[in-house]
Amino acid sequence: MTCILDAKGSDRLTASVYVVGNFKGGVGKTKTVTMLSYISAVRKNRKTLVIDLDPQANATSVLAKTGDIQEVKTSITNGVISGDLEPEIIHVIKNLDLIASNVQFRNFGKILMKLFPDNEVAQISYLSKLIEPLKSKYDAIYLDVPPTISDFSDNAMMAANHCIVILQTHELSMDGTKTYINYMQYLIDTYNTSLDIIGILPCMLQPRARVDKKVMNNAKELYGDNVLTTIVGYQERLKAYDAEGIAMGHMYNGAPDHWDKIAHDLYEDVLNELDEHEKLLGVNTSE
Ligand SMILES: Nc1ncnc2c1ncn2[C@@H]1O[C@H](COP(=O)(O)OP(=O)(O)OP(=O)(O)O)[C@@H](O)[C@H]1O
Ligand SMILES: [Mg+2]
Repeated sequence: MTCILDAKGSDRLTASVYVVGNFKGGVGKTKTVTMLSYISAVRKNRKTLVIDLDPQANATSVLAKTGDIQEVKTSITNGVISGDLEPEIIHVIKNLDLIASNVQFRNFGKILMKLFPDNEVAQISYLSKLIEPLKSKYDAIYLDVPPTISDFSDNAMMAANHCIVILQTHELSMDGTKTYINYMQYLIDTYNTSLDIIGILPCMLQPRARVDKKVMNNAKELYGDNVLTTIVGYQERLKAYDAEGIAMGHMYNGAPDHWDKIAHDLYEDVLNELDEHEKLLGVNTSE
């Protein structure tokens, strides 16, 4: 997040926009988006928005449960058709908003073709244009995308400033991570967009899996300090949030629930590391 002074000299926000990526399915992208956005809102008091760009709508489902929202009536699909995302914003909990997805959003490609026939640049830059007016209302905007090279991921990469890449630490290869980073570089070179890697997050979603040291060493050799030192391991509680929504329970004596605290502390560590990287990137780009 950056604070800039407007003509009257008062502070206004300019959100940092984060995309969480890997072209493999089921590696923890949505978990990362929902947990980081929750921690950003609840523990860091940042005005936070999640935009669900996946027609599977998993982030929508988790956040609706988190906010006890019975029926989601608005959607990103309406917003891309009307050209205005603001009416589609749903309030989830204090500091946390959502633009929901739905199955109709699978037609995003067709909508883009209709709006901008034969104009590929306009097609892949559309989301970037639509979120511009929202940036002054938030500190952080998180984009959740499906695991494909598609109009969804292209638009997300063009709209984001920072990318959090998922690294599967129990896989024998880093193919998903490498493909994603190479594709990101291709978009940056081709369309001259400004997107950086703010962190590579090691995730290990299988119960009882062990971190593959070779994969970690290989990742560190290739990507250096971009690889976060915090590793997201399997936690039953994190899995349970899919069905129950994210929460912080309390014991009869008022103490925080042990397992919620462990899950939330983990993602606070991740967010702290990402904040450090963002600060360093800001220093380097202003030099
Ligand atoms: N640290 C974790 N501990 C336990 N379960 C996890 C953890 N991270 C993710 N999961 C579970 O693993 C499954 C896949 O995670 P998630 O939905 O975040 O992946 P994804 O990369 O978004 O998948 P897709 O590519 O289909 O969008 C989900 O059921 C999720 O609850
Ligand atoms: Mg997902």
